[in-house]
Amino acid sequence: MSSDVMEKIVSLCKRRGFVFQGSEIYGGLAGTWDYGPYGAMLAHNIKSLWWKHFVGVREDMYGVSTSTIMSEAVWRSSGHLEGFTDPMVECAKCKRRFRTDHLPDVKKCPECGGSLGDEKTFNLLIPVELGSVAGETSRAYLRGEVAQGMFIHFKNILDTIRPKLPFGLAQMGKAYRNEIAPRDFLFRAREFDLMELEYFVREKEWEASFEMWRNEMHSWIEAVGIKKEIVHEVEIPNGERAHYSKRTIDFEFEYPFGQKELYGLAYRGEYDLKRHMEQAGVDFRYADESEEPFVPHVIEPTFGHGRTILAVLLSAYDEDELGGEKRVVLRFKKEIAPVKAAVFPLLKNKPELVAKAREVYSSLKLQVSSVQFDANGNIGKRYRRQDEIGTPVCITVDFQTLEDDTVTVRDRDSGVQERVSVNDIAKLVS
Ligand code: GAP
Repeated sequence: MSSDVMEKIVSLCKRRGFVFQGSEIYGGLAGTWDYGPYGAMLAHNIKSLWWKHFVGVREDMYGVSTSTIMSEAVWRSSGHLEGFTDPMVECAKCKRRFRTDHLPDVKKCPECGGSLGDEKTFNLLIPVELGSVAGETSRAYLRGEVAQGMFIHFKNILDTIRPKLPFGLAQMGKAYRNEIAPRDFLFRAREFDLMELEYFVREKEWEASFEMWRNEMHSWIEAVGIKKEIVHEVEIPNGERAHYSKRTIDFEFEYPFGQKELYGLAYRGEYDLKRHMEQAGVDFRYADESEEPFVPHVIEPTFGHGRTILAVLLSAYDEDELGGEKRVVLRFKKEIAPVKAAVFPLLKNKPELVAKAREVYSSLKLQVSSVQFDANGNIGKRYRRQDEIGTPVCITVDFQTLEDDTVTVRDRDSGVQERVSVNDIAKLVS
């Protein structure tokens, strides 16, 4: 993928209202991104598809939604206060900080040439001071992963749902990390959404379950529209894995700035449940009639939502020529496209066409969410606008519509148009 694709995507995202820099009007806040109308719809559609794929269609998954602020004790027990760190060096001259593993030369500052100090470990958790009584505060943390919200409620889940092993918990939501060097657009942010699964198994089942989730992750990559030929599995060796993991496979994507992590699959063993059991004194053992109570083991597929959006944008972005005209097109899968269909009157100065187009639009909008009406400019310009935001089909109301209630439906990818009865368009679009 050529490096200018990244610039083109960042610029398209800003120009068409997908993604803006966080706190932009005050100069921006590094590592924060805000979604505009199309970005918010794309983000929402990806989450809905993920939920359907991993929770909705399965019998063994349960969803939870837990707080993003969690007590210090959670992170002490989970090992994150100690182990959730990046190696860092600071420049003696300009005081900028860098991740040591991102530097070509660990002695010289890449910005000002000053000398870099000794390596330190830098904790990524973001502390917050909470005050409930005037003058008194207590320290808590914004969650660094959404997984812990699922581990700490393990007993509540057993007591209320009474699930049979193997079963899993799913959660989507904000995670926060004090990244030393946020960079590469949505790739490395300080606030981002995570979509995570914790799948609880008997120890003897872990390898089979790991393989099952490995396949499921590939099937998701295809379902969401990420180019699977540029996703590569990388086995993470001993000593480089997160403190809780006994085995990790990273799913790396060929971004324009290099092949880097997209998703991860980890075998967390009984690490988290055992740590919380010891520290909080809660019994997290699972008991089936036929077995002695035991602490289940965990397989964790984890999906960064921002990185999914970035990989989807990079996979969908294309420039081609249609009908002799150059265009930019986002070839999103229909399920995640921010706008599912656009409805146009052929001519905007013919009131009868505009009225009929609005009627078709209003009826379609009731059946399919996210339909747009557009009467600005000529048809060619409207097609270009919709191609650039990835709308799968454009529907045009013309003079024939007034006679036989049919419209033309134009396919984004091929440009082919077909005549379809108004009654059939909702089926075609959804
Ligand atoms: N619960 C496991 C866990 O949090 P991780 O590899 O630290 O594992 C999970 O993070 C996923 O979160 C990664 O695979 C990546 O997709 C995404 N991710 C991690 N750091 C990120 C950041 N700073 N900005 C955006 N996404 C990030």
